[in-house]
Amino acid sequence: MGLLLPLALCALATCCGATSMPQPVPKPSLLLPRGCNDSDVLGFAGFALENINKDRKEGYVLSLNRVSDAWQYRQDVPGSLFYLTLDVLETHCHVLSKKSWMDCEVRDLHESVYGRCKAMFYVNKPRRILYLVAYNCTVRPVSRRKIHNTCPDCPSPSSADLSDPRVLEAATESLAKYNKKSTSKQYSLVKVIRASSQWVFGPGTFVEYLVKESPCTKSQTSSCSLQLSDSVPVGLCRGSLNQRDEDKFISVACDFFESQAPAPGEANPAATQGPANLPKVEEPQWKGPAPSNVPSEAVPKGSVQYLPDLDDEKPGDSQAMGPHEAFPVQLDLTTNPQGEALDISFLFLGPKEKKLLVLPFPKTLKHPVECPGPAQNTSPLVTPP
Ligand SMILES: *[C@@H]1O[C@H](CO)[C@@H](O)[C@H](O)[C@H]1NC(C)=O
Ligand SMILES: *[C@@H]1O[C@H](CO)[C@@H](O)[C@H](O)[C@H]1NC(C)=O
Repeated sequence: MGLLLPLALCALATCCGATSMPQPVPKPSLLLPRGCNDSDVLGFAGFALENINKDRKEGYVLSLNRVSDAWQYRQDVPGSLFYLTLDVLETHCHVLSKKSWMDCEVRDLHESVYGRCKAMFYVNKPRRILYLVAYNCTVRPVSRRKIHNTCPDCPSPSSADLSDPRVLEAATESLAKYNKKSTSKQYSLVKVIRASSQWVFGPGTFVEYLVKESPCTKSQTSSCSLQLSDSVPVGLCRGSLNQRDEDKFISVACDFFESQAPAPGEANPAATQGPANLPKVEEPQWKGPAPSNVPSEAVPKGSVQYLPDLDDEKPGDSQAMGPHEAFPVQLDLTTNPQGEALDISFLFLGPKEKKLLVLPFPKTLKHPVECPGPAQNTSPLVTPP
């Protein structure tokens, strides 16, 4: 008898669970506001940003400045879906370098690019699953006017049009200088991705561009007409061209990306370690699926939108712009307040179907606990309102 009762209860639970659960019903009480300085929230925010950077194919690695909002939605499938709003700063590393944001330096204040990301991040500690469901980000360059007001003597390069012939000239001339110094390998231009100009002792143009390996070696350059069809960028070069009267001053430095293919069986180090300057996450470890059996891995989970300097917005626009519209980030997997089920069975090794219930992204209006969290860079010039 002592054994029978629990068995009967079990059977009852399975029976009723099975029949009354074709449509999951959200329990809003399970949507919890979380502190933006909580150590687990900081840890998950760091992992989420790591995965955002890995998902991207272009642009610079974004680093975490602060967590600005956080909600935890407990699920019937074990685990929680975190709704994170992250304030970010652009670093010098290109996303193709596959470097962790923790190993990348953020740009100096006068050339900062900053903004906000929203991310949905599924966390299942017992199964050690951390999974970025979706994200979107919006970034802008720091206000040149405000930089000038706070620091009139700071360098104030103005961003240059990538189609300006001087930009192309700075790129080709600086790459030519690099190739001349290189003993064997030669590189050619893929594209210029950032350019600015500033009067130094004459007009100066500063460029950053992606390069690919040229099939020609140094000894062949004059006779070589080979063309490689694939143009996978292998590195990022920074070059400058300054002119004084008839003299040209050229500088160049290149960083080459590490080979992209991880060694077989090797855990991805970027995803397994917690952020260095943030509290360590104890339990979880990246245990995502192997890319081959997850077709969805190939599809981007979001994008980064680049908007102009806030001061360059048309006057009418900025008048009407509330604090949340300055960095608008849309992330709506569903608009149904009841939520929508998302199949995440591929994250689990078993044959059973597992569904995650996704709610619309919570509005940040009334957050009862401490948010935003402390910032790495507290300057109001690079923190979204
Ligand atoms: C992400 O933002 C873009 C606009 O930048 C938007 O078209 C897209 O729908 C957004 N994604 C989601 C999931 O909301
Ligand atoms: C954030 O948390 C850390 C350690 O948990 C604490 O030392 C720090 O004072 C907190 N910062 C704020 C702004 O609450």
